[in-house]
Amino acid sequence: MNRKKAVRRSAEWFGKDGKDGFHHRSWMKNQGLPHHLFDGRPVIGICNTWSELTPCNAHFRVLAERVKRGVYEMGGFPLEFPVMSLGETLMRPSTMLYRNLVSMDVEESIRANPLDGVVLLVGCDKTTPALLMGAASCDLPAIVVSGGPMLNGRFRDGQIGSGTHVWKFEDMVRAGDMSMQEFMDAEACMSRSAGHCMTMGTASTMASMSESLGIALPTNAAIPAADSRRNVLAHMAGRRIVEMVEEDLTMSKILTREAFENAIRTNGAIGGSTNAVVHLLAVAGRIGVDLSLDDWDTLGRDVPCIVNLMPSGEYLMEDFYYAGGLPAVHRELAEAGLLHKDAPTANGRTLWENVKDAQCWNRDVIFPLAEPFKAQGGIAVLRGNLAPQGAILKPSAATEPLMRHRGKAVVFEDIDDYKARIDDPELAVDATCVLVLKGCGPKGYPGFPETGNMGLPAKLLRQGVSDMVRISDARMSGTAFGTVVLHTAPEAAAGGPLAFVRDGDEIELDVPARRLVLHVPDEELERRRAAWRAPEPHSERGYLKLYLDHVMQADTGADLDVLTGGSGAGVPRESH
Ligand code: FES
Repeated sequence: MNRKKAVRRSAEWFGKDGKDGFHHRSWMKNQGLPHHLFDGRPVIGICNTWSELTPCNAHFRVLAERVKRGVYEMGGFPLEFPVMSLGETLMRPSTMLYRNLVSMDVEESIRANPLDGVVLLVGCDKTTPALLMGAASCDLPAIVVSGGPMLNGRFRDGQIGSGTHVWKFEDMVRAGDMSMQEFMDAEACMSRSAGHCMTMGTASTMASMSESLGIALPTNAAIPAADSRRNVLAHMAGRRIVEMVEEDLTMSKILTREAFENAIRTNGAIGGSTNAVVHLLAVAGRIGVDLSLDDWDTLGRDVPCIVNLMPSGEYLMEDFYYAGGLPAVHRELAEAGLLHKDAPTANGRTLWENVKDAQCWNRDVIFPLAEPFKAQGGIAVLRGNLAPQGAILKPSAATEPLMRHRGKAVVFEDIDDYKARIDDPELAVDATCVLVLKGCGPKGYPGFPETGNMGLPAKLLRQGVSDMVRISDARMSGTAFGTVVLHTAPEAAAGGPLAFVRDGDEIELDVPARRLVLHVPDEELERRRAAWRAPEPHSERGYLKLYLDHVMQADTGADLDVLTGGSGAGVPRESH
């Protein structure tokens, strides 16, 4: 190919004569960039979410350098740029509040600059959907490189998983089965290398979703961050993005309806995070694919969970990689007719071409589809008068006997109320009750936090109770587990029926029938609705005001309504 003849976006900056071209090239040359890099070759943005405040992404400067090697090798011109990073463990009130803000940062950074293609460096939970959403609204060629999971946690004689064991250890401390010293000893044992959570939490799930969508290279999901092959993957992605620009392989050519169907089915097979629901709905909304909450139920319903990873199982991402990783899962699903084999992927081959020779090396980690790890993978979408726009539950992380349950509500009006009373010895609660938490949806908290797997009352933990039905408008960490109904829509703060539940009301959960019913007469519910007053807005200014005015409910992905769709990669007018 004669690259100088190809018309690229970047030529609108670097290919110009006169003062405009001078401006665009001269200041770049202060970085020691030689003149030949401005000759019309593909300019590749490396969108970096590195931050020391995002420990899961703290190794990304190394990864970016590996991407650059690949880009240079193929005759491209790499330019790394930062965007706001979202560190799950530090940011308050919730990283989810900022996912949409980061997506705006990404979209506008790409469109405003001389980029022909972009490599998205993602890792910690929200960084993956945020960058996918922003890039999708531009629809340039793009490829995802995930940072990779941490090495397996090791505490004493056993493996411990990010997040999953935090909940377990906390319950053990509250039940008096673990000392505070032991609890603190476990901290360094859990997070012992670079990388993101090594359970099948949201980060691993979204890395798997990227690979399943075809927007990342095969094996992207599972190579540990500390494994040298992660650097090789970054290098190869750098090589490939240059070719993608030359082939004009834009995101919308990969992120088709079929790609999303492949991702949803894969999520069932891996026991993936419930957070994938809102994130994929939001990405689909940006790229213009018609995807609904009900698609999650219909597409995932017959997919068993075949991956034995925490929080649903016992192994971790490092084990998953050695067992064959996602390609082995994809092969299993594709051979059973559960995937669109012809779906195009970022490396130019179809999904089936990528995985047809994949091998499983450990059947304790990746089970055969015919003898699955758990019969029910996927996401159950529940409806009823308590969730007219839907709520979700992850069957593989729930307790089978509780999947059909009727009990009396114990209601917490918000998270502060919950924290103040959950361990009160006088709290009227037993194991048959249903814990209800309000005020934790997109508008309510604000920012849709991961408080849905609220801990059980200490007095019940001491009795040996390990699970109860819990219902909220919150999300749940992908590393968490339990019979937990999440994303109830509309949320309480938006006047959804959850707002009207009171202590002692009977609630019926029937997962097989996909029902969530509040057994209160309609007339009484109407009386409660009439008496309800919306909470005061959390803020009248800044991003929070923009967010509260425009955020949509969980059932459509909790994006801002003004951000759905895209504006393409058109070149803005000159600035001087
Ligand atoms: Fe970053 Fe779990 S805290 S991935």
